[in-house]
Amino acid sequence: MQRQRIASADHRDAHSDWRQSDWAADFDDGWFWQLIRGRRSVRRYLPEPVEKALLEMLLTAAIWAPSAHNRQPWRFCVVTTDPVKQKLSDRMGARWRADLSADGVDESIIERRVRISHARITGAPALVAASLSLEGMDDYPDRRRQEAEWLMAVQSTALACQNLLLAAHNYGLAACWMCAPLFVPDLVRDVLDLPQSWHPQALITLGYAAEEKYRERLPLAERVTWR
Ligand SMILES: Cc1cc2nc3c(=O)[nH]c(=O)nc-3n(C[C@H](O)[C@H](O)[C@H](O)COP(=O)(O)O)c2cc1C
Repeated sequence: MQRQRIASADHRDAHSDWRQSDWAADFDDGWFWQLIRGRRSVRRYLPEPVEKALLEMLLTAAIWAPSAHNRQPWRFCVVTTDPVKQKLSDRMGARWRADLSADGVDESIIERRVRISHARITGAPALVAASLSLEGMDDYPDRRRQEAEWLMAVQSTALACQNLLLAAHNYGLAACWMCAPLFVPDLVRDVLDLPQSWHPQALITLGYAAEEKYRERLPLAERVTWR
């Protein structure tokens, strides 16, 4: 299996958090930290297809995520054909353009943003549109509990997507989560011919990396409270 060609995991830093220095080097579990910390959102890909068997492996990792009541509310649509990518990107771009225009954003900025987004989507060898379905989830008569159930489906689907992202990194692929479907779920359903019961949540672009990315995290103390 091909490993990620542009290593994103070889950065060492001197921050003081537990295992934040030499994190992938000297531990027996270095592979784990390489997996967790080496994964990056990568938005440019080589024009090389991703094998179907590999995509199936990533999807298998996705469905082994935990889910509320083990109801597995996630649904995935894999897009590898250029005309579908093109149509999805064109139609999402048109909606985004209209939204930004209504916000009063400068036309040149709008065009630039839409162009970048279009290049990301059409330049990715594979896309995975992740949706959720409430079929099989619990049904409540009141809004409070129904909203909680909806959130459980969202959370379960997000966990599946994270599994998919980690699996992609493990198998040498790069990926990026795009939130655009949340803003235009009807359009995504229409272009991809998805059932009405599917609620699009994210678009994950996948391919072999054509750029190197590095990102930091804030120290634990800024995000964790102990009682
Ligand atoms: C819910 C969610 C939505 C995101 N939406 C987008 C997006 O629309 N476009 C994009 O380029 N990146 C998107 N990202 C990726 C984040 O920008 C990225 O995870 C963050 O900057 C940290 O970088 P890293 O993933 O390399 O650690 C999204 C990530 C999450 C979890």
